[in-house]
Amino acid sequence: MLNNLNFLPENSSAIVMGANGGIGKAILKTIKSKYKFKNVFGLSRKSEIYINYYSEESIKKAAEYFLSESLNIRLIINCAGYLYDKEFLPEKSIKDIDINYMQKSFYMNSIGPALFMKYFFPVLPRDNKFIFANLSAKVGSISDNKLGGWLSYRSSKAALNQLVKCMSIELYRRNKNSICVAIHPGTVDTNLSKPFNKKGLNVRTPDVAANEILSVISSLNTTHNGKFLDYKFKEITF
Ligand SMILES: NC(=O)c1ccc[n+]([C@@H]2O[C@H](COP(=O)([O-])OP(=O)(O)OC[C@H]3O[C@@H](n4cnc5c(N)ncnc54)[C@H](OP(=O)(O)O)[C@@H]3O)[C@@H](O)[C@H]2O)c1
Repeated sequence: MLNNLNFLPENSSAIVMGANGGIGKAILKTIKSKYKFKNVFGLSRKSEIYINYYSEESIKKAAEYFLSESLNIRLIINCAGYLYDKEFLPEKSIKDIDINYMQKSFYMNSIGPALFMKYFFPVLPRDNKFIFANLSAKVGSISDNKLGGWLSYRSSKAALNQLVKCMSIELYRRNKNSICVAIHPGTVDTNLSKPFNKKGLNVRTPDVAANEILSVISSLNTTHNGKFLDYKFKEITF
């Protein structure tokens, strides 16, 4: 149910990082059409205020822009991430580990988001409700790992989950109304899942997933700070 992100004052701003990806684009569109934010910024490698995780300078510059504009940022959703490309597929076993694939996975799923947290921290509100949601993946849960494989993706998302936890603790010290979470979007029909969305999985369209994710985000309160939740609002153990 799309309940209530409209608790936020009408001068609030939202940022969607990775706004050009399958889920990010749908989230950006849905926020613009269903919620009352004054400004909604979509950041990607192609946007005017652009961010490329491989360029620390681009993250710093983007954060400086938001700081200088003193916008009332109340929601950030990070939708960027990486699983495979033309060169690399996820490992089936430990013997498949490739340093270049592993580095790329960690850069995209952990280091880039960590730099984003570092540079955007000063931009975030010191009081009032603020939500920072990071799209993670259930396979990043260590306690849920029954199959092994996908070592780089799993471990880079586990690292992201740890970063979310650290960020939630520091944000709480600064603003008791902050909520920082990791969200598993489930299997969504995007480029990222294409080779893997087998029959039997509950594959949803990006638009459906965007509504589900925003419904979870709408329902968050401060007791959820630092948690890992799925698109049905069920908590996942780290
Ligand atoms: N789809 C699923 O079934 C599924 C399942 C579990 C978790 N997830 C997670 O959900 C998130 C979104 O996935 P998706 O399915 O929407 O994937 P996607 O369509 O492949 O989108 C990936 C996003 O990452 C961005 N990106 C790629 N390289 C980048 C770089 N160097 N710097 C900054 N951004 C970069 C892309 O931007 P460009 O447009 O600029 O390339 C794009 O916005 C990911 O974190 C993924 O791990 C997805």
